[in-house]
Amino acid sequence: MTMTPICSVFNEYLHYLKAPLTTLISEVNIDMKKTTLSLSAVVAVSLGITGAAIGSASSTDATVSVKAMADALHLVMDSDRTVYTKKIVNRLVKKEKVIKATEHFEDDKSLALPAQMFRFGSELAMKRAEKMEDVDFSYTLQSLWPINRQNAPKTKAERDGLKFVAENKGKNYYTTETLGGQKYFTAVYADTGVAPVCVSCHNKHPDTPKKDFKLGDVMGGVVIRIPIES
Ligand code: HEC
Repeated sequence: MTMTPICSVFNEYLHYLKAPLTTLISEVNIDMKKTTLSLSAVVAVSLGITGAAIGSASSTDATVSVKAMADALHLVMDSDRTVYTKKIVNRLVKKEKVIKATEHFEDDKSLALPAQMFRFGSELAMKRAEKMEDVDFSYTLQSLWPINRQNAPKTKAERDGLKFVAENKGKNYYTTETLGGQKYFTAVYADTGVAPVCVSCHNKHPDTPKKDFKLGDVMGGVVIRIPIES
């Protein structure tokens, strides 16, 4: 069979269809720096819509609000946190009783605590973001009843936000604050005791100031801060 130009276009199209979406998007991210191929064009390709493959550069400049960005970031981090707690820690520690989750997990050969997993992710993200021109945000896990005093709120916005999410279940807290001359959009989301192991570990920890957490209680909050123009 002779190869016609149509065939080679089709083969390339098949490659896109076969590639997992993540590979596709990372390939395109690289492409986007070099060319004006837009993300919407690639989504169109991955959905099998040929002929719509040429987009404009403008869609890469499309903006989302800081609130939408914070909400999306929180959704991802909270989902990962819930999955780690329920499918790893709660299952292996509480149900199967095959391993413990402890602060000194390397020495103990145990699982890292959910809060440590969260902090490791946060620290790595911050480090990687330093090298990225357009990406700037920070996030922390805090509480009005912290086991570790370093996780207590430090600014008025953090304190007000943690109080608000504890008293208004299901609602988030949004505000702006100026710190060191920089204005920030600051969002606070409830951190809830989603698994029995959250509550039991906190209630019996020697450093906890609160010993009566119940399943489903707000135990603290995630603070996301994004710099904005004043
Ligand atoms: C096996 C014990 C353990 C489990 C399970 C656990 N935590 Fe913690 N949690 C801790 C310890 C210890 C810290 C302090 C970690 C540090 O040094 O920052 C902490 C930190 C926190 C903090 C930050 C404020 C503070 O207390 O220092 C929040 C909020 C929190 N945990 C909520 C939860 C929730 C919600 C879950 C379940 C999804 C959970 N924890 C599961 C032990 C545990």
